[in-house]
Amino acid sequence: MCGIVGITADPLITGNIIPQLIDSLKRLEYRGYDSAGFAFIECGADKLLVLKDKGKIDSVVKRHRVGSKCGTTGIAHTRWATHGPPSQRNAHPHADCRGEIAVAHNGIIKNFAELRELLTAKGHRFTSDTDTEVIAHLFEEYISKGMSGFDAFKKVISLIEGTYAIVLIHLGEPTRIYFARHVSPLIIGVGEGFNAVSSDIPSLLPLTRRIIVVRDGEYGYIEPYRIHIEYEGAKAEWRSRIRLVTWSIESAEKGGYPHFMFKEIMEQPRALYETYNGLLSAAAEVDKAASIISSADHIFVTGAGTSYHAGLVFAYYMSTITRLPVIPFIASEYKAYEGLGGRRAVLIAISQSGETIDTLQALRAFKARGTRIVSISNVIDSTIPRESHQAIYTRAGPEIGVAATKTFLTQILALTLLSISTAFTLGTIDSREKEDMINELEKAGKYAAKGIETSIRRIETLTDVLKNKTNMYILGRGLGVPLAYEAALKVKEVSYIHAEAYPAGESKHGPIALIEEDYPVIFIGASPSKEYIEKLQGNVMEMKSRGAFTILIGHDAYNGIKGLDYFVSVGNPSELLAPYAITPPLQLLAYKLAVSLGRDPDKPRNLAKTVTVE
Ligand code: F6R
Repeated sequence: MCGIVGITADPLITGNIIPQLIDSLKRLEYRGYDSAGFAFIECGADKLLVLKDKGKIDSVVKRHRVGSKCGTTGIAHTRWATHGPPSQRNAHPHADCRGEIAVAHNGIIKNFAELRELLTAKGHRFTSDTDTEVIAHLFEEYISKGMSGFDAFKKVISLIEGTYAIVLIHLGEPTRIYFARHVSPLIIGVGEGFNAVSSDIPSLLPLTRRIIVVRDGEYGYIEPYRIHIEYEGAKAEWRSRIRLVTWSIESAEKGGYPHFMFKEIMEQPRALYETYNGLLSAAAEVDKAASIISSADHIFVTGAGTSYHAGLVFAYYMSTITRLPVIPFIASEYKAYEGLGGRRAVLIAISQSGETIDTLQALRAFKARGTRIVSISNVIDSTIPRESHQAIYTRAGPEIGVAATKTFLTQILALTLLSISTAFTLGTIDSREKEDMINELEKAGKYAAKGIETSIRRIETLTDVLKNKTNMYILGRGLGVPLAYEAALKVKEVSYIHAEAYPAGESKHGPIALIEEDYPVIFIGASPSKEYIEKLQGNVMEMKSRGAFTILIGHDAYNGIKGLDYFVSVGNPSELLAPYAITPPLQLLAYKLAVSLGRDPDKPRNLAKTVTVE
């Protein structure tokens, strides 16, 4: 949902900041890639330069020879279009009438039309269709009235409504970058002889590991040797909020892999290992969350996209291990649950980024009714964990590919530990059973590796069979259902082949009407139990007898069931370990389909990671 970055540096220490600005922006490209732009104070010149265009960052940099320029203070933006189609004029940063102010923005200014009308009446000339441009003109308006830069900026912030992360530079104050945050994420990178702001942590990793998460409603400015943050007119103490990020630079780079998505699928064994060990050593986090859940009489779980699917897996384990019912809902549908929640309820909010607006709104609505909030996130100090009563962090490392992969499995691992701990707190399982299950989960990473190893060849052949199809079903039972939903989402979003998931038993109630000769149907064999195998066998036959091309990806126990055209074994995981063995082959299938069809799996069309608009 747009990425913004700003760097201001002492030229004697860091020299030209343009290479860093380009590099940091490129690390944000997963947030949107409709257009890109740069605005900076030129080295040694009393001039603000704006270079921007339609297209991905590399092509904009090349077309405008951005790399050959020299700057000391600059901002940059990569856009996921909301107001105005992707074009040069709509690309950020946007300037004022005199070209002395430049602003880049992530979010939506709801009242931009009236502000624009007002400013136009005062003689301001607009050159884009965006909501953002009003910010530059408003700032210009107050500066021309004699206000100081900071007062003008504060005035602007008080007038705009909507969601935003903003960075603004002004020729009159050439070493300063103003920033403000309302909902859309923003962090400050604390440097020596420089400071930076960005939409996320990975983009600043080559510059600094010391970060401050800007909180909702905060605004201020950075200079090479100064950071100033305010909230509602009062200065905010920030030194105690500096966090040392442990993510390595390599973890945010492709490291020889052709795509981030592939790298992130392949590093799941390590991500699971680190999450497992991290959570065992922070067992108090999980136990505290479990005690909140145990004392609740209603348990809700929410998230968007992949995180919602992790929530469905949680609901499955809560039912089978903990024996408690969970009410899952898609975060953007939170209004439908308006009368629910309250002091005796708990909401588990799942979000890898910790910033997804739908999940945040659901959290806030439930919290306002007194509901206790437990969250699962991969990004330390992000808004969702910060607004929760108890946060549990996964340790997946930064996820750059737009499609969530490693964060899904690490979320499931954290949620399964939570189910086990809740079951123990409630006495549904004893300490021995708890220990056995926790020991079993230690093998999650091993099973992910095994799932990849045993299936990779078969997945490659399957890709050749499926790449020319336009539709497919993915069907499962029990635990296989949320895994099927997730697999269908992955196939759709990166390969653009239409994939639809259903509980296998439900397929007879309508979806089967589409089956004709060679229509692909992928079955997921998650549970090795006799009952599940027999029932899935029936579903395979129903599809086969209507001409479907039937595939099964799953546990060895499903090998040999009748009516299958293609079987992909993932080994023999228990039900507790099945997600880790089954999901990577399905992610690989989506990835390989995308690559074989010439798509860019890291930047699927129309999508952006971290959705911060409702
Ligand atoms: C799918 C995907 C999205 C996200 C969703 C929630 O591959 O990445 O569906 O899962 O936008 O994002 P988070 O988990 O950051 O709240």
